[in-house]
Amino acid sequence: MRTYLVTGGAGFIGSNYIHYMFKKYDKEIRIINVDALTYAGNPENLKSIENRDNYTFIKADICDKETISRIFAENDIDRVVHFAAESHVDRSIKNPEIFVRTNVLGTAVMLNCAQAAWELPDGTYKKDKKFLHVSTDEVYGSLEEDGGYFYETTPYAPHSPYSASKAGSDMLVRSFMDTYHFPANITNCSNNYGPYQFPEKLIPLIINNALQGKKLPVYGDGKNVRDWLYVEDHAKAIDMVQEKGRLFETYNVGGHNEKQNIEIIHIILDTLREMLSDDDPRKALVTDDLITYVEDRKGHDRRYAIAPDKIRAEIGWEPETMFKEGIKRTIQWYFEHEDWMRNVTSGEYQKYYEENYGKR
Ligand code: NAD
Ligand code: DAU
Repeated sequence: MRTYLVTGGAGFIGSNYIHYMFKKYDKEIRIINVDALTYAGNPENLKSIENRDNYTFIKADICDKETISRIFAENDIDRVVHFAAESHVDRSIKNPEIFVRTNVLGTAVMLNCAQAAWELPDGTYKKDKKFLHVSTDEVYGSLEEDGGYFYETTPYAPHSPYSASKAGSDMLVRSFMDTYHFPANITNCSNNYGPYQFPEKLIPLIINNALQGKKLPVYGDGKNVRDWLYVEDHAKAIDMVQEKGRLFETYNVGGHNEKQNIEIIHIILDTLREMLSDDDPRKALVTDDLITYVEDRKGHDRRYAIAPDKIRAEIGWEPETMFKEGIKRTIQWYFEHEDWMRNVTSGEYQKYYEENYGKR
């Protein structure tokens, strides 16, 4: 039975990945989820699997070397899937240091501990041990509106403290592969959407605000482009890269689904109106008048677009969920999880919202 150490598994993509893996492998694998439960980590995301015999949750900080090495010493870990990170660009603009700590130092600790546990006296590694570092397309910087894609060979050019810290973490993983022949892969993925996404990110924020008749804040001219991928497709890509990919390689993951932010907002509004029944009082609140153009994000990257050619050619991965279908599934999930949304938007979120949007 393979043992996985997943970091950041209580967050958005990490929890979707854990659900995906149990659905796919059921009792054939064991998962240990290490998460510090920051504002973005939520044990509710894993409620339905928390009592499984083959699942363990450990509340710990990935920067805490003593605890992480103890976890490696006490468990024969076969796979590390490293999601844990500070992940929101706007927060990184206000408070960069925590991004450097978690994303760079935390990754260094994870790499060090895995290497210490897996390396043999002759410098080779125990059989079939693999580390997968989950990264982002933002490390490549920004594309022109009228052309080009991010390839694995595109030079790094991060702009925000978030993407700079992720670029730093990627470079550390590369350095471990180059220096120690450490068995790893990196995936650089485009924007994800789907269940369990924290409503600081565009799609869940728009869904939540629209259902309450609150303003929908559009940064700048609303024409920045992102390449949206349904989160389950990302989870599948991670698993396929780890099992079928060539070690030491980077794979870009993307949905070939570029859309301007304003288009996304109109699709959400139209889909909400289509899905809400006529006698639902929220239907009358969901109007285009809610759209409000606000001050732009500082250093706002114009366009991201992934060329997923390598992962398709080498591994056979392709996105399966079309945006029209994925957004319906996502909205349906938020309809069915009103309590989840209420819980995550009370307390600290209100303070964050006021700080980020109050004077915009
Ligand atoms: P998220 O913010 O929803 O979750 C991050 C998780 O990491 C949370 O559970 C949090 O508690 C945990 N965490 C934070 N600091 C920690 C620490 N010091 N120690 C242990 N746990 C800690 O993020 P997400 O959107 O799920 O992103 C997961 C990963 O995927 C990140 O590495 C991110 O850079 C990358 N990524 C995200 C996207 C996206 O669109 N969301 C796209 C590509 C790549
Ligand atoms: O590209 C992958 C990245 O996608 C991940 O690495 C990040 O972790 C993830 O947060 C995401 O970054 P973005 O900055 O692209 O996502 P966000 O949802 O914050 O914003 C998407 C776009 O919408 C961006 O152009 C900014 C804009 N936006 C966002 C918010 C929250 C608005 O116009 N209004 C908003 O209120």
